Amino acid sequence: MKLELRDLHVSVEGKNVLNGISLVINPGEVHALMGPNGGGKSTLSAVIAGHPRYKVEQGDILVDGKSIIQMPAYERARLGVFLSFQHPVELQGVSLSKLLLMLAKLRNPSLSIVEFKRCLLKNLQNIGVDESFVNRETNVGFSGGEKKRAEVLQLLTLQPSLAVLDELDSGLDVDTLRVLASSVNDLRGSNFSALVITHYPRLLEYIKPDFVHVLAEGKIVASGSMKLAREVETNGYQKLVSI
Ligand SMILES: Nc1ncnc2c1ncn2[C@@H]1O[C@H](COP(=O)(O)OP(=O)(O)OP(=O)(O)O)[C@@H](O)[C@H]1O
Ligand SMILES: [Mg+2]
Repeated sequence: MKLELRDLHVSVEGKNVLNGISLVINPGEVHALMGPNGGGKSTLSAVIAGHPRYKVEQGDILVDGKSIIQMPAYERARLGVFLSFQHPVELQGVSLSKLLLMLAKLRNPSLSIVEFKRCLLKNLQNIGVDESFVNRETNVGFSGGEKKRAEVLQLLTLQPSLAVLDELDSGLDVDTLRVLASSVNDLRGSNFSALVITHYPRLLEYIKPDFVHVLAEGKIVASGSMKLAREVETNGYQKLVSI
């Protein structure tokens, strides 16, 4: 899937948060997005996913050349756009297995239960949890790391064409980080592209993005390679933001 953001201006609660974002993610590419707190990264992820709270004042979002700006979130999901939340929400009364089955059916309506279970067991093994994990209510009482595991299970189940991963690494221990990064890497290929939002180069050392961008004050202030992520780690954002 090719994603194009064209001069996006977005407001929320009457406040301008994104002030002209342009970005092209080609099929097969992984882009990383870094930037100071409050710069607009999660807002951008919500806007791509189609969250109705965020108002697009100007600009366009195109998927494979077609505008999706009028498309509701569920249609974008059906198209293959996936968002992993920075703060996953609790779904009281909905077991994770039920949610995953629903997502799997969304992806492939003719999927049999046997095939679903086979894939689920493989995915559980990949991320290092047993079956009892998916019998729990989604994210209810989950630790920070368990919530991120649940996000990755959804990602593996949906096999989206475009994944926006908002701080998948926040709060993860080093071993879990490696396991989840490896699951993301397993999806890489010409039919998968991703926008990986993170504060730390450690995740990027595993995922190895093709491009790294810095978003600050609602604008992309720098773009480059992994070198940029390492520079940010060493020097912070001050130099980039004051340009
Ligand atoms: N629903 C909302 N209501 C009010 N303000 C919002 C809302 N969503 C975002 N904002 C504001 O927009 C700005 C950007 O927030 P956003 O969450 O996109 O930043 P971020 O770059 O993801 O930060 P962080 O690195 O801390 O996650 C902030 O000032 C935030 O308070
Ligand atoms: Mg954020």
